Amino acid sequence: MKTLKLCFIGFGNVGQKVSALLLEKQDWLRETFDTDVIVTGIAGRSKGSLVDPAGLDLRESLSQVQTTGRFDPASPAAFEGTPEEMMAASRADVLVEMSTLSIRDGLPAADYIRYALRRGMHVITANKGPEAWYYKELKELAEQAGRQFLYETIVLDGTPTFNLMTETLHGNTISGITGILNGTSNYVLKLLEEGKSYDEAIKAAQDIGLAEADPSMDIDGWDGAAKICAMANILMDASITPDDVEVESVRSVTAEKLADAKQRGMCIKYICRAEQTEDGVKVSVKPEELPREHAYNSVNGTSAVFTLYTDLAGELTIIQTDPGLLQTAYGIYSDLITLLKRI
Ligand SMILES: NC(=O)c1ccc[n+]([C@@H]2O[C@H](COP(=O)([O-])OP(=O)(O)OC[C@H]3O[C@@H](n4cnc5c(N)ncnc54)[C@H](OP(=O)(O)O)[C@@H]3O)[C@@H](O)[C@H]2O)c1
Repeated sequence: MKTLKLCFIGFGNVGQKVSALLLEKQDWLRETFDTDVIVTGIAGRSKGSLVDPAGLDLRESLSQVQTTGRFDPASPAAFEGTPEEMMAASRADVLVEMSTLSIRDGLPAADYIRYALRRGMHVITANKGPEAWYYKELKELAEQAGRQFLYETIVLDGTPTFNLMTETLHGNTISGITGILNGTSNYVLKLLEEGKSYDEAIKAAQDIGLAEADPSMDIDGWDGAAKICAMANILMDASITPDDVEVESVRSVTAEKLADAKQRGMCIKYICRAEQTEDGVKVSVKPEELPREHAYNSVNGTSAVFTLYTDLAGELTIIQTDPGLLQTAYGIYSDLITLLKRI
């Protein structure tokens, strides 16, 4: 029986759900891959850190955080140190990076990933910042180190997006991508169309746990910019950052514009777009008018969609309906299975 040691950076919503899923699937992983998948280190910002190279009691660690909001500082596994020191002390084979997104610079997540790859660890991340800002560099670093760098859950959670290209659509060239990639702005648009004001729509999005206390990253397009950037970098071999994305806030859509579009048989959706042009890949996030019968008009609430324009397989659209945290955790778990298959 082999052992695969994971360490986690970030133990918030995603980290905890991934832990629960791992506990549920540990036996299946053992039977299927003849591998004991254990967690030997966890670091975050305010919950404390844990290290035990022989394997943490993940069920107990999860229970501590869920009952007291932090790891027990009196635990023999309690660890004082930076996330980098945790990675070294944990002697893990894989970093599972699930820290908070910084859309403005992809840091410190990208630094954690660089450190892990340089130490010879594989990396799985839920964070789209590093791929939006430093994809090529991180990919090359992983290739030089002969290690896996996996990120399936960064766009549409566990919906196959990047695996679709590597495993199934191989041989195609993608000339364009469109999508509705941000649930909050899509939800707000729908409520505006139903006659609510901006403040009412944003409050409703917050009430169902969709929008952050500060919803501007979603509403002003930066979350969508990071996602379409990461997609263009990974799927279209672009070398762009969120600074290169033409972004227009969804706040530019008024009730009058929505009513006018409706009268003309159109709808307005908040579209992320990447297009191959003679001058390279051009990327935008802005409200666009579409015919009312367009498939995207049926994508509402927290649902999301993307379309790939390929040279051989044609135009392909995937809709993800009402995703939850389990789907995000599945994206990480799916990367773990990819890793186990490859190594
Ligand atoms: N939630 C989703 O549906 C979803 C879907 C796809 C991808 N993602 C991505 O998954 C990641 C985690 O999301 P989440 O919802 O779990 O967020 P979250 O609940 O806010 O948890 C973030 C975790 O990161 C830790 N952290 C924050 N800053 C850090 C730093 N500088 N160094 C080390 N750890 C740090 C936090 O520690 P403290 O708790 O101690 O502050 C917390 O444990 C994000 O990158 C997000 O974009 C989320």
